[in-house]
Amino acid sequence: FQEKKKKNDSSAGYQPLFKSFATDAVHVGSEPEQWNSRAVVPLISLSTTFKQHEPGKHAGFEYSRSGNPTRNCLERAVAALDGAQYCMALASGLAATLTITHLFKAGDGILSMNDVYGGTNRYFRKIAAEVGFDVSFADLSKIEEIKAALKPNTKMVWIETPTNPTMKVVDIQGCADIVHEHNKDIIVVVDNTFMSAYFQRPLALGADLCMYSATKYMNGHSDVVMGLISLNRDDLYERLKFLQNGLGAVPSPFDCYMCNRGLKTLHLRMKQHFKNAMAAAQFLEADPRVDRVIFPGLPSHPQHELTKRQCTGCPGMITFYIKGKLEHASTFLRNISSTSISHSAVFFSRASMTHASVSEDERKELGISDVLVRLSVGLEDEEDIIADLDQALAAAVSISENILSENK
Ligand SMILES: *Cc1c(COP(=O)(O)O)cnc(C)c1O
Ligand SMILES: *[C@@H]1O[C@H](CO)[C@@H](O)[C@H](O)[C@H]1NC(C)=O
Ligand SMILES: *[C@@H]1O[C@H](CO)[C@@H](O)[C@H](O)[C@H]1NC(C)=O
Repeated sequence: FQEKKKKNDSSAGYQPLFKSFATDAVHVGSEPEQWNSRAVVPLISLSTTFKQHEPGKHAGFEYSRSGNPTRNCLERAVAALDGAQYCMALASGLAATLTITHLFKAGDGILSMNDVYGGTNRYFRKIAAEVGFDVSFADLSKIEEIKAALKPNTKMVWIETPTNPTMKVVDIQGCADIVHEHNKDIIVVVDNTFMSAYFQRPLALGADLCMYSATKYMNGHSDVVMGLISLNRDDLYERLKFLQNGLGAVPSPFDCYMCNRGLKTLHLRMKQHFKNAMAAAQFLEADPRVDRVIFPGLPSHPQHELTKRQCTGCPGMITFYIKGKLEHASTFLRNISSTSISHSAVFFSRASMTHASVSEDERKELGISDVLVRLSVGLEDEEDIIADLDQALAAAVSISENILSENK
């Protein structure tokens, strides 16, 4: 029966699901025994200060920036879901990136994947480079290019996979092995925001740090801005814990409570994102109004096999190129955003606007063009998502007819 079920599952061929993931999501960090009241849901602890029994002796908490009971519950939950020893919550994904970068000093080299989240790109290029970090970029999905991109001063390698917006998949184990063979002290970081803890465990694949913008899938309800860092190394934990407190970019207890609540349904949400995205990607790939679809879950994705080897499934991010010009993409966007799926579907187009900090040549090389549309498939009904895509494509095509008649 198990055999049969596996064969017909959309997750067939991927890494097996992480053991006890759902049980851990529901229970770890939420143990009722930690509270005198035996509350089954973590309390929101707003107190900034904690009484000491006697000077210097406290019950685990002193001051809320250094440690907070609600934050602690969230951090323990995330550590369990990442198969990690430790986790730290920060005020945003970028606050996590900033805190990690403070492990290093001016003059140190940072090698980043060349296609990363816009805010990460901006931070590395316009802020970290300005204060003296030696920031460089390379296509880390090309395993043979990694070694050449490492410099004598490289201290950190920053991986994002799949990348945004061109959905390249980086072989985490392959990359970490090459980097650590070159120099075992280089810190390999994976931005695991898109895969979430449910689909990918970077630490088990050789990464030193796994970071998230929990603002996205981990919290999953578009109502919290948060960052997370998971890790196993004691020395790095000690230093990062110092930086979490020392830099002070910590989240509020309420946000920690919310994020922990969101985590309890992560497994259910990600399964549905995968299912809906697969249906949307198949629909788009078969549609003559669409040029090309990039979704790691499709066999047509150049790294589909790697994705199956590295992940337990795929999230809702799809990129596609609409046939035509900028006008077609913008009409598509206008029409999709007037529909029911607009809440969870985030669309990026107009390369010149969303990727303003990336030069035109680099945009071309990365494949970021004016007809690129990035779709984040949400949790609505599959039929509604496909109907919305269909009507917006129809609207884009109708513009084509208008342009043609104007040109006559
Ligand atoms: C959103 C995002 C970030 C930044 O996180 P914030 O919580 O917005 O600061 C970093 N990486 C990726 C992949 C993201 O999508
Ligand atoms: C198995 O999957 C195939 C293709 O997705 C589908 O046509 C078939 O009905 C499924 N069979 C069962 C028993 O669910
Ligand atoms: C596109 O949206 C406009 C309004 O935003 C609407 O009038 C038009 O009918 C839509 N086109 C299609 C094909 O649904």
